[in-house]
Amino acid sequence: MALIEVLRFPHQILRQQCEPVAAITDDVLKLIDDMVETMYSYKGVGLAAPQVGVAQNIIVLDVGQGLVSLINPEISLGEGTASKEEGCLCLPDLLVTVERRERIQIKGIDRKGNPVTLEADGLLARALQHEIDHLNGTLIIDKLSKLKRDLIIKRLRKQQLKAQK
Ligand code: NI
Repeated sequence: MALIEVLRFPHQILRQQCEPVAAITDDVLKLIDDMVETMYSYKGVGLAAPQVGVAQNIIVLDVGQGLVSLINPEISLGEGTASKEEGCLCLPDLLVTVERRERIQIKGIDRKGNPVTLEADGLLARALQHEIDHLNGTLIIDKLSKLKRDLIIKRLRKQQLKAQK
């Protein structure tokens, strides 16, 4: 296994629509293993493949209830709404209050190629929705008003320019 660099906003791959995984090859399994190791090393609760530069529908999560890795995940049911602060490894030092479904059902494929259906609520439901957003090129800053988003993007650009000097 190996650590992979987590890309930061505004890397363009974070804005891409990811592609479904067509076949579970050794490369896909290695990517999942590396994503898991990277997620734990960054102390994240979840990671989506585009965050490590691969525009494919793969997510891994661990919100403290065990490791979940899903290929081609799709939300099949959603109920209720809940708002809570979220962070993202692609946007360090930023917390955004995001309204999401409170309970969801998710369908996907596990690493052996078996179809799985998952019921989730609380933090797991939130993290799953956050990671699936990544597969559609959506980030937590998109949940802000345009005014706030523009301000934050300006601030991030400034920080990046400083870091490059
Ligand atoms: Ni994220």
